[in-house]
Amino acid sequence: MHSDIKEILVTEEQIDKIVKDIAEQIDRDYRGRDKKLLLLCILKGSVVFMGEIMKHVTVPVEIDFMKVSSYGSGTTSGRLNIILDLHRDNLQDTDIIIIEDIIDSGKTLAYLRKYLELKGANSVRTCTLLDKPSRREVDLVPDYTGCEIPDEFVVGFGLDYDEKYRNLPFVGILKPEVYSN
Ligand code: IMP
Ligand code: MG
Repeated sequence: MHSDIKEILVTEEQIDKIVKDIAEQIDRDYRGRDKKLLLLCILKGSVVFMGEIMKHVTVPVEIDFMKVSSYGSGTTSGRLNIILDLHRDNLQDTDIIIIEDIIDSGKTLAYLRKYLELKGANSVRTCTLLDKPSRREVDLVPDYTGCEIPDEFVVGFGLDYDEKYRNLPFVGILKPEVYSN
């Protein structure tokens, strides 16, 4: 275990099972559909989860990426800054699953889902590895959830603090002294 980590919250083995369970659900839900299925990874935090999910889904999929950031801290508007947009034609022929690392307030996913629906996607679902339901500020229930966690700041498996710890193979809670330094 890394010396900055206080506690492992979700182990590699647990994540492995989560990924396989979600991939099976996606297979069941989308098998035989006549639309394209697009797994849409939200950079950067979701990249590790995305890589694992796409390996285990067996129905035909395409992949793409978007990058967003909130309009500075303390924003209540729920508006996001789109840094990398989705450029695709004929979204009416596409079912999208947004792949997210973690849901906190819910604003990111609520905004993205609406944005993609307005762009004309045939359907938009949401998938998250982690969920902190106690932090929710908008009405958003993900379609596929890996694991609900308490209100703790976590890193690893793609999630960062100050761009670090994304490469840890598990999800862990940082030691408080790491923030205060
Ligand atoms: P929301 O829009 O408030 O749901 O924020 C979701 C985004 O906040 C995630 O995609 C992460 O980038 C970030 N985030 C929220 N909680 C954590 C955490 O515990 N660790 C790392 N990033 C987090
Ligand atoms: Mg993120």
